[in-house]
Amino acid sequence: MKLSILGGGAWGATLGQLLVDNGHDVLIYDINQSFVDTINQQHIHPFFDLPLPEALTATNDLSVALDFTEYLVLAVPTKVMRGLLTTIDNLVTEPKYFINVSKGIEPDTSKRVSEIVDEVIKTNHLKGFAVLTGPSHAEEVIKRKLTLLTVASTDEALAKDLQVMFSNDSYMRVYTSTDLIGCEVGGAVKNAIAVVSGIATGLDMGENARAALITRGIVEIVRVVEAYGGSRDTAFGLTGVGDLIVTASSEHSRNFKAGKEIGKGKSMDQIYAEQKQTIEGVRAILALHQLAEKKHLSLPIIEVAYHVIYENMPITDAVTKLLTRTLKSEKIE
Ligand SMILES: NC(=O)c1ccc[n+]([C@@H]2O[C@H](COP(=O)([O-])OP(=O)(O)OC[C@H]3O[C@@H](n4cnc5c(N)ncnc54)[C@H](O)[C@@H]3O)[C@@H](O)[C@H]2O)c1
Repeated sequence: MKLSILGGGAWGATLGQLLVDNGHDVLIYDINQSFVDTINQQHIHPFFDLPLPEALTATNDLSVALDFTEYLVLAVPTKVMRGLLTTIDNLVTEPKYFINVSKGIEPDTSKRVSEIVDEVIKTNHLKGFAVLTGPSHAEEVIKRKLTLLTVASTDEALAKDLQVMFSNDSYMRVYTSTDLIGCEVGGAVKNAIAVVSGIATGLDMGENARAALITRGIVEIVRVVEAYGGSRDTAFGLTGVGDLIVTASSEHSRNFKAGKEIGKGKSMDQIYAEQKQTIEGVRAILALHQLAEKKHLSLPIIEVAYHVIYENMPITDAVTKLLTRTLKSEKIE
């Protein structure tokens, strides 16, 4: 099959290698000319100093990527997704499949990427939509380390086709799901919890505290998944708890690392100045805070992270706020 990957960053270029390994013809589109040159001329991953297959090519011309195939893998940060999709809708004349691999929720609208696609892409340009997500550090997939993902679509036949396209016998096993909502939401919320876990680590609060935050973070993932209409089972699978496990204490995770820096006293401005790559969890915290207000959801961990990051609440006050909540029984509701 032919696929275009829109966004050739850490994850997009890594998926490019996976798809070439699986025998597909892959073109990457990225706005960063130096990434395009690095892929085409040096055959090196733009973020990791590791070789990419020579068959993997790149372009900075979106029209070329759109004309290449009907399968479009969306691997850009969520914050540019609406703009990119609007441009795509103006350029395409044939219907396309959209396979989202980014993990975020749009602040202000609280929309998932599938909802943005439905809003922006005209019906006659939309052949199908799926999300591919789960516990996956690009740093490991690029080294062909064993990884399990889930591809979710309301169109089960599409999910099965993509399962075969992305799976291989040596390092990638993909499951299918029809719970598109649950799979999309889990990936976004776990990033927010990973930031909080990082803050606790930066503060040297200890492993007990981190385990507590991660476990109670799972409760918040369940609440958000269910608030959107997803299934609790999905929240406990690869795309929710699985992804949280891989992210919430890993130095590979930009969300965890950003949280650690916040815990050590750095401002978001300083962190953004040092880290040019996507940190989805910080924007997810804003989107989830807004969602909690709109839907009257109890998300205490995400709420205190919002106060610390967006309202400069001292972290010690945030911890006190969490600890002085009414004592309760341990239930997920
Ligand atoms: N890094 C991982 O291990 C990983 C794993 C799974 C999912 N994800 C998700 O994938 C998404 C991308 O993450 P990443 O780590 O690859 O980020 P990244 O910052 O490394 O890469 C993003 C890429 O998108 C490109 N880009 C930005 N705006 C663009 C536009 N308008 N058109 C085309 N290209 C554009 C950038 O130049 C960059 O190369 C995020 O939502 C992330 O949560 C990342």
